[in-house]
Amino acid sequence: MKQLKRPRRLRNSKFIRELCAENSLRVSDFIYPMFCHFDIDAKEEISSMPGQFRQGRNHLIKDLKELVANGLHAICLFPLVEENLKDSQGSYSFNEANYYLDLIKEIKDLYPELLIMTDVALDPYSSDGHDGIVDKKSGKILNDESLIVLEKMSLAQANAGADIIGPSDMMDGRIRVIREALERENFIDTMIMSYSAKYASSYYGPFREALNSAPKSGDKKTYQMDPRNLKVALKEARLDVAEGADILMVKPGLPYLDVVSLLARNLTQPISVYQVSGEYAMIKAASEKGWIDEESVVLESAMSFKRAGASMILSYFTRDILKYLQS
Ligand code: PBG
Repeated sequence: MKQLKRPRRLRNSKFIRELCAENSLRVSDFIYPMFCHFDIDAKEEISSMPGQFRQGRNHLIKDLKELVANGLHAICLFPLVEENLKDSQGSYSFNEANYYLDLIKEIKDLYPELLIMTDVALDPYSSDGHDGIVDKKSGKILNDESLIVLEKMSLAQANAGADIIGPSDMMDGRIRVIREALERENFIDTMIMSYSAKYASSYYGPFREALNSAPKSGDKKTYQMDPRNLKVALKEARLDVAEGADILMVKPGLPYLDVVSLLARNLTQPISVYQVSGEYAMIKAASEKGWIDEESVVLESAMSFKRAGASMILSYFTRDILKYLQS
């Protein structure tokens, strides 16, 4: 047989492979999720996420200096809240004395260009550990009652200087309520990155340990999406677009690349993907055992998000990726 087609021609040398590459990674593709601690001097490593810390103001500010110097463009902040400040309504979330809001303000003052994304959901503030308000009698998660809190929380964060509001709660209609409130209060440039396709996933375990935010009873299946379903992702994303979302997120990442691809091909908004705590933990554990090469697996996973169609990636590996991409 006479060979005419030889796909290997385009793989024969490094330079031709580079010319043919369809995707690439840049430091500006990454958003670093970071955990804040209410104690200004605290720095605690999260046991199921080696290399990730809950940091109080003093360590966080120092840490950011180095990260920004290494090219970091965006962070996503999550607060650890003192147990005695949690209540059934999540009211500390919009309390003026909330340390998280002060931190946002301070970081924005220090690094005006750094994009600060926040978390909008009740769970870090809720004595029930749910993303919405729980009805005491039925145990149901109350949708519209929760929206009232989400609106106040979003305005408090926008007022503190957040660039991107990140509703991660999956209540119905939240994007509309938040967008309308932001416009009303003249936060017209504050963006919303909706957790549009957020699945009820077991990959969030280490995150809930980090914030001590696991549900006290029940699970999150009445609001987060069923992992068996794909079409609902497009439905949720279209609703969020209609309600005013600027960026649409898929979460988790690697097990849901089909969802990233579906949204990227059917919608014009930028798509983000969240490589979640459990994904981080798995790569870390396998690499600690010497079973995989951490750097190449991290970069390959990140590239797969881009290939699927994501414009940006939330990853706990961001700190390492900044270094990998420089060398
Ligand atoms: C809660 C929230 C969760 C994550 C981000 N925001 C956990 C959950 O929904 O239970 C998970 C992130 C991760 O696992 O890294 N609103």
